[in-house]
Amino acid sequence: MDSSIMSLSRFMLEEQRKHPLAHGDFTLILEQIAFAAKIISREVNKAGLVNILGSAKTHNVHGETQQKLDLFANERMIRVLNPTGKVCAMASEEIDDAIPVDDKSLEGKYSVVFDPLDGSSNIDVNVSIGTIFGIYRRLDDNNCLHSLLQKGKELVCSGYVIYGSSTMFVYTTGNGVNGFTLDPSVGEFLLSHKNIKIPEYGKIYSINESNYDRWPEGIKEYVKFIRNHPDRQYTARWIGSFVADFHRNLLKGGVFSYPENTKNPQGKLRLLYEANPMAFVVENAGGAATDGKHRILDIQPTSLHERVPLVIGSKYEVELYAEFREKYG
Ligand code: AHG
Ligand code: MN
Ligand code: MN
Repeated sequence: MDSSIMSLSRFMLEEQRKHPLAHGDFTLILEQIAFAAKIISREVNKAGLVNILGSAKTHNVHGETQQKLDLFANERMIRVLNPTGKVCAMASEEIDDAIPVDDKSLEGKYSVVFDPLDGSSNIDVNVSIGTIFGIYRRLDDNNCLHSLLQKGKELVCSGYVIYGSSTMFVYTTGNGVNGFTLDPSVGEFLLSHKNIKIPEYGKIYSINESNYDRWPEGIKEYVKFIRNHPDRQYTARWIGSFVADFHRNLLKGGVFSYPENTKNPQGKLRLLYEANPMAFVVENAGGAATDGKHRILDIQPTSLHERVPLVIGSKYEVELYAEFREKYG
């Protein structure tokens, strides 16, 4: 075998070997998430051919219409994780309460949070969507459900899958970020983006400017400054799928922001399923993530579905944002 070809499975095994005390529980969980990603990817690619597009005519706890693919992806994630017996608690953007696990899983040493399909509004129009996940070590506590409400800085692993022009699996265990591209002909994720580093600053800003009139002054001033930046010509990019906007900015540099506005006082994105896992990725790639004032990974979650204003990406643009908020409010 060509030594330059590294499959995700081999990569994970080699990582596991670096920890002589590891039992393989964590590797199994990650492997199963990659397996679910392949199934979801297959289904996403069939969308339009089979009856899987459109609304499921149900709503999630956030009041958002669920798409059939949201529910499919959610069920796949649960169905791959439950049989491992290693996950004592799970929570999903699509389910109101913590997800019940099998009896044999109650002793599992990890908890998992996920946004099964991010960018739902783009499913029906063939635009990139994704899956986001975070894995925590179980707290030393009888009630495993408490393990779901840990600060992001306690994550042992997080990552995302982007179903785009190709399907990619990007993850970190706190020691660099690596990206794997799915080779559909062999059904394997292969290492394609080794040790990803986000540029210190970029030329892209991603924010939904239709909210402009509802923003606090500091955000208006920040965007005005970026548009007329003395050193660089910035360009705006907004896909409307966080995973896709984030992935592009991670590789090219820049900032993604979904701040608070008068309609959404806590922004739109969810701390557990979106902000924390991506903040852990971006920090491990050399970037930063804040709510404008605090580091995202330091925020203590108080409920499963809470939202948080999010500014994430290259260090320069994220720090600049905090300066503008401090100065103008
Ligand atoms: P989800 O599909 O998981 O509910 O997330 C949608 C999110 C995120 O992906 C995206 O950045 C944002 O909603 C777009 O919001 P707007 O429609 O307000 O631009
Ligand atoms: Mn989402
Ligand atoms: Mn979602």
